[in-house]
Amino acid sequence: MNILILAAGSRNKIVQYFKKAFCGEGTVVATDASELGPAIYDADKHYIVPPITDPGYIDIILDICRKESIGGVLSLIDPELSLLAQNEHRFKALGTTVIGSSFELCELTLDKMRMYHWLAEHGYNCARSWMDKGEFFKAVSAGEIAYPVFVKPYRGSASISISKVFDGDTVELLLAHGRDLMIQEFLNGQEIGADVYIDMISGEVVSIFTKKKIKMRAGETDKAVSFKDERLFELIERFVVEAGFRGQIDIDIFDINGEYYISEVNPRFGGGYPHAYEAGCDHMRLILNNLNGIANKKNIGAYDEGVYMMKYNEVKILKA
Ligand SMILES: Nc1ncnc2c1ncn2[C@@H]1O[C@H](COP(=O)(O)OP(=O)(O)O)[C@@H](O)[C@H]1O
Ligand SMILES: [Mg+2]
Repeated sequence: MNILILAAGSRNKIVQYFKKAFCGEGTVVATDASELGPAIYDADKHYIVPPITDPGYIDIILDICRKESIGGVLSLIDPELSLLAQNEHRFKALGTTVIGSSFELCELTLDKMRMYHWLAEHGYNCARSWMDKGEFFKAVSAGEIAYPVFVKPYRGSASISISKVFDGDTVELLLAHGRDLMIQEFLNGQEIGADVYIDMISGEVVSIFTKKKIKMRAGETDKAVSFKDERLFELIERFVVEAGFRGQIDIDIFDINGEYYISEVNPRFGGGYPHAYEAGCDHMRLILNNLNGIANKKNIGAYDEGVYMMKYNEVKILKA
């Protein structure tokens, strides 16, 4: 059973974990648009491919799957998730399983405004959000919402162009100068990250790892500590099953005075996944089982509490 990791970038640990799980089982192949993407050098084999926006991109990936007898393919970057889901039938025809959620869900999670509407309509606690400035100021006047608020691109990622705003003038200024911005209620609470695996065969949530974020840096969790709460596990399970996610997902949650708020979902391995893996949640093994036609047994919360994660830098050296 061989696996293909697309857009490996600098996610070396993800590639290394797959190599461990697939050792003696098959080859780990990785791609990147750059020869200087460090993670490809940790794979058994790698390919340099055009950017995902290239019209011939998906055919090139399908060719790699054919040539390398790839059993499962996944991507580590958001913009590629929908593209893979959209072409799922073409991969399937080659015997390659796309490890991920449906096209509709990938698109939903990319759009923070649509995600907000989905969460609110399905009765989940979430941050009230506006695209319409007039509606937002009406809510402020009515005393339904108070400053600070967050202004951010409704299709943004990596915390780019996110602002915490303390007054109406600044909201006006940001909206006048930026495009595609949304206004969001400030969630004033403990940030939580969840790494979840939904079995690709049974559709059951089989593994959940949750951590409290201690420090964020450049839009990423820099330090975190694992914890467990049955009530949170139940919420995550209900939400994930109701939405219909598949494979690996990463969820941002806030704990505000004991109430959990769902903030956003990335239907892929999140940047903080190594914390889950090192604490005992080996989702690469779950993927391998699924690709071998084996459904995984439910094993939620199979890790220790109080395991800390601290990020630090590494370098890859390559001689020409
Ligand atoms: N409404 C909010 N309330 C509190 N913090 C927020 C809010 N929106 C964003 N943030 C902070 O900014 C980070 C990035 O925002 P997020 O909505 O997750 O977008 P991205 O797609 O860039 O990750 C969050 O992890 C959180 O720390
Ligand atoms: Mg986020």
